[in-house]
Amino acid sequence: MNRKYRRIIIAGNYKMNMLPGEIRAYAESMKTLVPRARWCETVICAPFVDLTAGLKYLKEARISVGAQNMSEYPRGAYTGEVSGEMLRDLGVKYVIIGHSERRQYFNETDLTVNEKVRAALDLGLHPIVCVGESEKQRELGLTEAHINYQVRAALSGVNEEQIRKVVIAYEPIWAIGTGNTATAEQAGEVNRYIRSIIRSIYGARLARATSILYGGSMNEKNAFELLAQPDIDGGLIGGASLVPEKFAKIIMAANQE
Ligand code: PGA
Repeated sequence: MNRKYRRIIIAGNYKMNMLPGEIRAYAESMKTLVPRARWCETVICAPFVDLTAGLKYLKEARISVGAQNMSEYPRGAYTGEVSGEMLRDLGVKYVIIGHSERRQYFNETDLTVNEKVRAALDLGLHPIVCVGESEKQRELGLTEAHINYQVRAALSGVNEEQIRKVVIAYEPIWAIGTGNTATAEQAGEVNRYIRSIIRSIYGARLARATSILYGGSMNEKNAFELLAQPDIDGGLIGGASLVPEKFAKIIMAANQE
């Protein structure tokens, strides 16, 4: 982390694992567990139908609300889709774009990810853009080539003003939901590489100000070490965000110097 230059963000992504009726109790637990003084921005990314309850109750725990996806289209005949404007109208601030589960199960490509990122930015939302290599790609030594392509594709057409709103999350696919966290060094190295890509596109000043998170089996035990890496500016947390005690401890780990 380097809180002098960039926002530290601890974002929960509980995926399809909580009902609208369960959010209130979750928010109340978080409120009692997390101290008021906090040195990081805390976010919960919720499924669409949970957003209203999230916005209502999580505010009291001073937690911002994000969505887990949005449509690349502004409006129109797209049955079943949810637009960025709908999210903004509700008061949602963040939106995860290009999570590996969406790429894997819902046919999202680097090009649709780019369309979604630009649509989110046009509306003033903060996209949390996920990138990460598979186990096979890492084995074959293709991690950097893959990350380089994913980051450049996601940010194509994003201007210098807009990059300030973008959050990147490095999420190696082999670490998501598996308990196999990347070591702090492995994660720190890829995050540093991502910053070098941003630097080559937008220059040193904007690269230094971009928050780059790590996600993939981050938990209350390994968070402190991961966040101690200079280029890891927070976390995107799946499983551990479902348990208020664990998520609160990760938030506390972001309070280190
Ligand atoms: P995990 O998920 O923390 O359960 O590995 C992270 C994510 O998918 O964002």
